[in-house]
Amino acid sequence: MGRQKIIGVILGSIREGRVNDRVARWVTGQLERHGFATRLIDPADPGLLPVQIGDKAAIGSLHQRMQGLDGFVIVTPEYNHAEPGPLKTLIDSSGPGWFARPVGLISYGGMSGGLRAIEALRIILAELHTVTLRDTVSFVSPWRRIDEAGRIADPEDAAAVEAAMAVFAHRLDWWADALAVAREGRPYDPEEG
Ligand SMILES: Cc1cc2nc3c(=O)[nH]c(=O)nc-3n(C[C@H](O)[C@H](O)[C@H](O)COP(=O)(O)O)c2cc1C
Repeated sequence: MGRQKIIGVILGSIREGRVNDRVARWVTGQLERHGFATRLIDPADPGLLPVQIGDKAAIGSLHQRMQGLDGFVIVTPEYNHAEPGPLKTLIDSSGPGWFARPVGLISYGGMSGGLRAIEALRIILAELHTVTLRDTVSFVSPWRRIDEAGRIADPEDAAAVEAAMAVFAHRLDWWADALAVAREGRPYDPEEG
């Protein structure tokens, strides 16, 4: 595919003072470095926050933001061994923008680096007709490693996660291409075929 692919970057936390922004800044920078354009889908954005209480205008705006994307990357913490509630509500409100798209999962948290949130999300995302990437990137204690601008201070640390991100970006690109060809070939929905 010749044109630049656009990836929706979805945040998981709406907590004031969240670490999510730092991790998402690093992720967005990396995706752009690997040639993707990005579109932020932030459940704490004032226009999207009312999605949490089922506000129709906010849900409409979410559907619009989810449309026409080549794939998604979710950047989420883990709370009590799962994804945060606001992320689940956002996903539950999000409509068909996901269908036949790849989704990459990037997590953070304490000792587990949020890996259980990733595994919990895979089950949910299968229901949304997505393909989740096998490869992930996760951060143990990102609050000690990533600054407000999304920079990783320690060069060895940065090199290790950048290497993981290079594999992740390659797989995301591969699946985005493969699924775009498949969608163009024939409709995903059986009733349209
Ligand atoms: C109620 C609560 C439960 C948590 N549960 C987990 C957990 O199960 N696994 C983990 O790795 N971190 C856990 N954490 C740590 C969070 O992942 C960490 O605070 C992270 O910074 C939250 O993301 P945020 O700052 O972007 O909201 C928990 C934190 C809280 C407050």
